[in-house]
Amino acid sequence: MSRRYAIVPAAGSGSRFGAACPKQYLQLAGRPLMWHTLASLCALECIDKVVLVISAQDEWFDDYEWDLPRLSVQRIGGPTRAESVSNGLAALDAAADDWVLVHDAARCCLTVGMVERLLAELADDPVGGLLALPVPDTVKRADRDGRVASTLPRSGLWLAQTPQMFRAGLLSRALSDVDFDTITDEASAIEKLGYKPRLVEGDASNFKITWPRDLTLARAILAARKE
Ligand code: CTP
Ligand code: MG
Repeated sequence: MSRRYAIVPAAGSGSRFGAACPKQYLQLAGRPLMWHTLASLCALECIDKVVLVISAQDEWFDDYEWDLPRLSVQRIGGPTRAESVSNGLAALDAAADDWVLVHDAARCCLTVGMVERLLAELADDPVGGLLALPVPDTVKRADRDGRVASTLPRSGLWLAQTPQMFRAGLLSRALSDVDFDTITDEASAIEKLGYKPRLVEGDASNFKITWPRDLTLARAILAARKE
């Protein structure tokens, strides 16, 4: 039977957030932000190992308690997210048929239920897929002066989230074929090989912490779940 693994890229610097430390280490509900991310993945016993990819220059990881089962920390982050994921995949040494779930460290409101839905929906899928959300708003394309150049038809548009789940062999082939600078998720690498990843409806609370305002929202969500 094929195994399931998770890779969590966490080697970014959080430049858009602009904090004194990378955003994955900001304090959230008494823990570093990415502890919450990892806790949801490590709670699933059907995931054999969770590989956390941090930077070789990381100065923060050792300052905290992680106490999470099946967590493997690898100081092999690359200059791009895609390269961090690719390095994590190489370190896994997975069989071609094993499933790999890639999830951003900065999506800290992930729940066990969201991962279970993805696993169930894709269990028999020949390609794999990702959590995503249909775009709810009207979408505008801006010109260089910040004015509306056009309105895009939103029907059929989805916002990609993570986890993104693919067989290790296919993902490895896809990542070895792409220019790491040109992709921001695994699905686009798979698409470049001509495959069509499946869209599984996610949840709005599974957003990525990018700017300071996102942290306020994550705090409120985690506090509300605790009540
Ligand atoms: N990431 C990574 N290696 C990189 C860049 C990003 O592992 N070289 C990780 C981040 O740590 C994050 C996830 O990929 O968990 C999504 O990336 P993003 O939200 O863009 O985070 P940062 O790159 O840290 O933020 P920014 O782009 O604002 O600098
Ligand atoms: Mg980035």
